[in-house]
Amino acid sequence: MTKLSKKSTKLLHTFLISILFVSFSSCDGGEDDEMDEFSSTKEFSDADMSIISQTLNLEQTPFNYENPSLPNHYKTDEANEANNTPEENQITNMGATLGRVLFYDKSLSANNTVSCASCHDQSAAFSDNRKFSIGLNGELTRRNSMTLINSRFYENGKFFWDERAATLEEQVLMPIEDHIEMGMDLNDLQVKLQDLDYYKVLFQNAFGSEEVTSEKIALALSQFTRSIVAVDSKFDRGMELVGPVDNEEEMPDFPNFTEQENLGMDIFYRGRNGGTCLYCHGSPQHVNDEAKNNGLSLDYTDNGKGEFTGRPEHNALFKVPSLRNIANSAPYMHDGRFETLMDVINHYSDQVEDHPNLNFRLKTLDDGEEGEAEVLRLNLSQTEKEALVAFLHTLTDEKVLTDEKYSDPFLD
Ligand code: HEC
Ligand code: HEC
Repeated sequence: MTKLSKKSTKLLHTFLISILFVSFSSCDGGEDDEMDEFSSTKEFSDADMSIISQTLNLEQTPFNYENPSLPNHYKTDEANEANNTPEENQITNMGATLGRVLFYDKSLSANNTVSCASCHDQSAAFSDNRKFSIGLNGELTRRNSMTLINSRFYENGKFFWDERAATLEEQVLMPIEDHIEMGMDLNDLQVKLQDLDYYKVLFQNAFGSEEVTSEKIALALSQFTRSIVAVDSKFDRGMELVGPVDNEEEMPDFPNFTEQENLGMDIFYRGRNGGTCLYCHGSPQHVNDEAKNNGLSLDYTDNGKGEFTGRPEHNALFKVPSLRNIANSAPYMHDGRFETLMDVINHYSDQVEDHPNLNFRLKTLDDGEEGEAEVLRLNLSQTEKEALVAFLHTLTDEKVLTDEKYSDPFLD
């Protein structure tokens, strides 16, 4: 990210907040005041269809994004608390449909070569299988593009590996303005999109007016991004079979798992040698709640959250993205340093480095105290490592990788 785009995004954030403030204070106390301002329709009219079908393959009745059927372990209090969807930007079917079109539209980049999907590929779990992604002029991004699956369950609601975006609404405009990624000025973008007939229809149906604004672009892209959830993996089916698990440390064997997958699950949740994956990746959505250090090196060239906050105790802390569909999203870590899941497991088993900010869960004392604590390694056998890799593969939801509701809607 450039300094410039950081600054302008900050300005935009202030702008968004003031808009919300104005809209809340202008209609007193109505619960759906935001809805009054931005009302969405349920389906496209015939006239709408004749315009959008020149460019887009969309059904007259949009897909169900606002109320998808979720398994029970996605409906717990814990899952609701972790959900970072703001009150003012609840998902609507039309809002997410607009978001889907924006997500796949190369018009969002200055030279019409790059869309969000260029670096967040559905078949790669909305990540990029390259170590670094290629932007509009062929330059490389600084970090690896991570999965967007289940990002709505990242509890503190901050985005990017270094958590520099305070909200998803703020984040989604940053790649557009980033000079390496899409290189587009937001004012120019509004004018450019306003000229495209299909956007008049899509903005009208999503927000009750055909006017294109960067605020509405941010809301719609966030709705689409938050709608992407993985709920149909072998792991999910196992959870449904065993019923509610109060304490994940006591995760029972799953009847639909092989012996090897159950062994891997045991290592994931109960750990070995005092170390476990549970504390940092263990929620039913396999997302953690804040940036941490997992001891990739003694000395990081990229200081992650610390670079952004300027506080040494934040050096080398990185966001913990969801492990859902992790088998599809190689390479791994913020710098894409590991090519395979076995490389990742070898790290936790044998190579964790004692960085000054190494999280206490990867140290010998797990009560968070300083002092005697030493770096902890799981020291897994080859059989155990292979089992853990097999377990990680059970987190793959095949459907999310091809589901039309998340796919490219453009005709060519
Ligand atoms: C040129 C490649 C590229 C393009 C285009 C791109 N991204 Fe990204 N995206 C990345 C990279 C790389 C990261 C990680 C950067 C970082 O954390 O510093 C990222 C991170 C993100 C994240 C943060 C996820 C998280 O869990 O914190 C979101 C959300 C996201 N992108 C959405 C989008 C959207 C929406 C668009 C289109 C408007 C887009 N991206 C366009 C490469 C790209
Ligand atoms: C102390 C917390 C912590 C523990 C314990 C932990 N991880 Fe992680 N994990 C992280 C962090 C932080 C990252 C991102 C680090 C980075 O990119 O610099 C991460 C990243 C990953 C990734 C790559 C994600 C991606 O999208 O690139 C995988 C896979 C992973 N961990 C698996 C595991 C497994 C398996 C275990 C147990 C053996 C485990 N982790 C234990 C904190 C932890």
